[in-house]
Amino acid sequence: MISNGLEGVVATQTRLSHVDGERGELIIAGYRLDEFAQLSFEEVLHRIWNAAGVTGQAICARPLSRCAIAVLQDAAGQRADPMDALRMAVGTLTARDDMEAAELLAGSVPTIVAAYTRLLGGTDPIDPGDDLGLAANYLYMLSGTAPTPERVQALNSYFATVSDHGLNASTFTARVIVSTESDFVSAITGAVGALKGPLHGGAPGPALDMVFEIGESSKAESYLRNKLDNGERLMGFGHRVYRVRDPRAEVLSAAAERLFLDSQDAPLYELAKSVEQTALTLLGEYKPHRSIQTNVEFFTALLLHGLGIDSEFFTPTFAIGRVAGWLGHCFEQRAEGRLIRPQSVYIGPRRTFRHLPMSSGDRYG
Ligand code: ACO
Repeated sequence: MISNGLEGVVATQTRLSHVDGERGELIIAGYRLDEFAQLSFEEVLHRIWNAAGVTGQAICARPLSRCAIAVLQDAAGQRADPMDALRMAVGTLTARDDMEAAELLAGSVPTIVAAYTRLLGGTDPIDPGDDLGLAANYLYMLSGTAPTPERVQALNSYFATVSDHGLNASTFTARVIVSTESDFVSAITGAVGALKGPLHGGAPGPALDMVFEIGESSKAESYLRNKLDNGERLMGFGHRVYRVRDPRAEVLSAAAERLFLDSQDAPLYELAKSVEQTALTLLGEYKPHRSIQTNVEFFTALLLHGLGIDSEFFTPTFAIGRVAGWLGHCFEQRAEGRLIRPQSVYIGPRRTFRHLPMSSGDRYG
């Protein structure tokens, strides 16, 4: 039997996370998401890698090598897509073993993303501060000023929430690469490529654009109906596994509410909540055969916008958090040690040269 998209196929066991799409439950490293989302990103890394059977040193933000800076400067000169720039800069990293690679990757991705944000904005990158955690350092390297504890807490919640999520496309990509006995830098480079796609990590920018284009609650219904009538998908809704509301949307909605409360952006949060309700009603009407609910991307967009992160950097910021899980899976896959190699069914023709004259295409193709 062929399962297109490997839907329903169980390919491995993991101790890192459990996704229950029917009940809307997510467990990471043994903890329910609402508890896990209270940890700092350092604790998240520590607990996920521990669950994978390894103990790392304290992870801190790493300054960039000259090679990585040169690559980012060149990418900025071409105004390369931030995920392409991240892929290129991650590819410059080298390490002697898996643990060194894991610590280097987890500490370098925030610095790379912050440096590219500044270069693209025409300012010089800022080195990480010595006494700041990863989330605080990321915000510091973006703006040059120490962030408030509320903003650090919001970003830590975000990183914890997106840190791991079963065998999603980018995690599977990383595991496939490690299964060939390749190295962790190659695995994370490949995972960044998989995360870039709009069906995986590339949706939050368009989800926020949609809220801005709608502008006020009274226009939501006609705007969204128009999209659905044209056969378009509503970004930030639907998921391959969840048939109920994505539990990550719940946690991020609460984190966004805390962040926006009393800020001048509070009306934007109210608008987003109203757009979400209208979208859910319409999706129920247009796609009654499929339970399409809010996914993680919708409130990711809102939260990251509230933190002052530009929408083209939403997916690279997602990557900073997901590195924790990618690397946990790399360690698990390394221990499993089995090459991932599914099969395909050939549906092309069976030809023979005996009866047919060779065409020029056959000769040179
Ligand atoms: N808006 C409108 N219709 C949708 C949406 C949506 N967001 N999502 C699914 N549908 C519809 C499809 O059109 C299809 O309808 P049909 O049966 O009438 O043709 C039906 O639901 C099933 O669609 P599939 O593509 O088979 O569902 P799948 O499980 O593969 O979809 C996916 C998952 C790709 C995420 C989809 O919901 C989507 O495109 N969402 C919008 C993009 C998005 O938000 N991506 C982020 C996902 S979260 C993450 O990866 C971190």
